[in-house]
Amino acid sequence: MGFLQWNGARIHFLDKGEGPAVLLLHAFPLSSSMWNKQANDLKDTFRVLAPDFPGFGKSDLLGQPATMDLYAQLAVALLDAAKVEKAAVVGLSMGGYVAFEMLERARDRVGALALCDTRATGDTPDGRKAREATAHAVEDDGCTVLAERMLPNLVSPAAPPALKRDIEKMITENSSDGAATALRAMAQRRDFTGSLKDIACPTLVLLGDHDTITPLAESQAMANAIPGAKFELIAQAGHLSSLENPKAFDAALRAFLDGQRSRLTSTPAGG
Ligand code: MLT
Repeated sequence: MGFLQWNGARIHFLDKGEGPAVLLLHAFPLSSSMWNKQANDLKDTFRVLAPDFPGFGKSDLLGQPATMDLYAQLAVALLDAAKVEKAAVVGLSMGGYVAFEMLERARDRVGALALCDTRATGDTPDGRKAREATAHAVEDDGCTVLAERMLPNLVSPAAPPALKRDIEKMITENSSDGAATALRAMAQRRDFTGSLKDIACPTLVLLGDHDTITPLAESQAMANAIPGAKFELIAQAGHLSSLENPKAFDAALRAFLDGQRSRLTSTPAGG
């Protein structure tokens, strides 16, 4: 793990393993800890980097409103600090929104792309209003509100209680201001549907087969719109498919990443 000084904030990131670089971008309202299993599974043959976005995990809050583009700037700054020219970028849900912004801002840094339980569309006007109401609730009552409201939709009904407790812990460890800031940033995010046809790097789209937040048809349509993209369902998993079925998720991700090694920058850990 390491820390990066960025925009006046101390940003925490995971940094494990050696080899071609893989950048893992976390979901809302989680943190880089959600990727612990993937980092351990991949670290024998890949260098895994995963930031905590500002106000999440062990990262400081930023003293300014955020946007998905600002989070993408942070992701690029982490690649710079790690001396990684090109990484495979893996974004789950909010992490996917950030990955789309990375493509806009620094396309040449994205050697391959995995879009997991995410969508290219922006929020509807009603969705934006609901985000603002949730942001107020979080500011008033803290991140427990998020755990109570969101947890049932983040995993499938069959998810084990221990997994739900782990996710609840990750959620409630975040700063309420960080979560409220991210809610407002997600509400303002752009619609990338029209840009999908321009994605030129190898792309994998993953979706938990019990994801009730990302509609199956929308995820398949997104994959169909990206030239050459592969779509794969993760069995027995809800929205947080990497946490609920890490075995299937990691197998699909590794099979994809193994084919992309020559497209990615290889650096020793921490260097
Ligand atoms: C996430 O998992 O990151 C969230 O469900 C994204 C969102 O609320 O749009």
